Amino acid sequence: MEFLAENEIIDRINELRKQKNAIIITHNYQLGEVQDIADFTGDSLELSIKAADTKADVIVFCGVKFMAETAFILSPEKTVLLPVMESGCPMADMANAEDLIKMKNDHPDALVVTYVNSSAEVKALTDVCVTSANALKIVSALPSDREIIFVPDKNLGGYIQKKTGRKMILWPGFCPTHMRITPKIILQKKQEYPDAKVMIHPESRLDVIDLADEVLSTGGMCRFAKQTDARKIIVATEIGLIYRLKKENPDKMFIPVTEQAVCPNMKMHRIENVLESLEKMRYRISVPEKIRIPAEKSIRKMLEMS
Ligand code: 13P
Ligand code: SF4
Repeated sequence: MEFLAENEIIDRINELRKQKNAIIITHNYQLGEVQDIADFTGDSLELSIKAADTKADVIVFCGVKFMAETAFILSPEKTVLLPVMESGCPMADMANAEDLIKMKNDHPDALVVTYVNSSAEVKALTDVCVTSANALKIVSALPSDREIIFVPDKNLGGYIQKKTGRKMILWPGFCPTHMRITPKIILQKKQEYPDAKVMIHPESRLDVIDLADEVLSTGGMCRFAKQTDARKIIVATEIGLIYRLKKENPDKMFIPVTEQAVCPNMKMHRIENVLESLEKMRYRISVPEKIRIPAEKSIRKMLEMS
């Protein structure tokens, strides 16, 4: 690729975006340079809604692969592009269809509730998907006499189980990035900033979540940060969210709990990759119809119940 200055890259992206009727959507953990060129930035639920509603012909998805797959599942008539093909989610890779089928056979009356951080194959075996923004609401609304298989995040599932008192079988998956956040780190920050509010993402360990003032999705954190009177906020999630929080609330102080909470997959997309993606129309994400149709049902059910 020829060398271009940042403003030239952005100009070309803007030309191609217009020419191809494309929309660039980015997750809250993306690099600042990518968030700055986005048409829309949000959490997993907000991005799914955007992908379902957009009038664009092309969706350039700056997030991880399961998110781009979700966009395609909801809008198969559109071209969905993931700028860097290797940007997967290790938690999504912890659950596979074969093992889920076995678990369903062992618990034939259970409902399968799947976190969107999962493959299309796993979604296709699911009754209803959830995100961190709506899991509590959706699980609470499911028939109370049914057991629940919760896939793949044992932390989010454990938190929902504790809040709802529902009988749940938890898949043993987790987010390696959020697992780096420990109670010790939170307690240290609380001691350092005693007047700060603490926001914690529910992909964190249960003993970490116990220390929260607010348990929120990344989108929920953005809303809370705007509304609260607190001037200092301790942020327990992937470090990329701090960029948006600071940009939207320049007068408030955001304290990351640890510089170690980085998701390397979320950091793979650079603006150069976005430009190449639009120029070469790559990498196209698609899902075979026999998986897409049942997967769509479980995602649409989530959107209905949100
Ligand atoms: P949300 O942005 O939906 O809170 O999810 C966080 C996450 O880890 C996405 O991979
Ligand atoms: Fe997956 Fe965790 Fe990265 Fe989100 S932050 S994409 S759950 S590894």
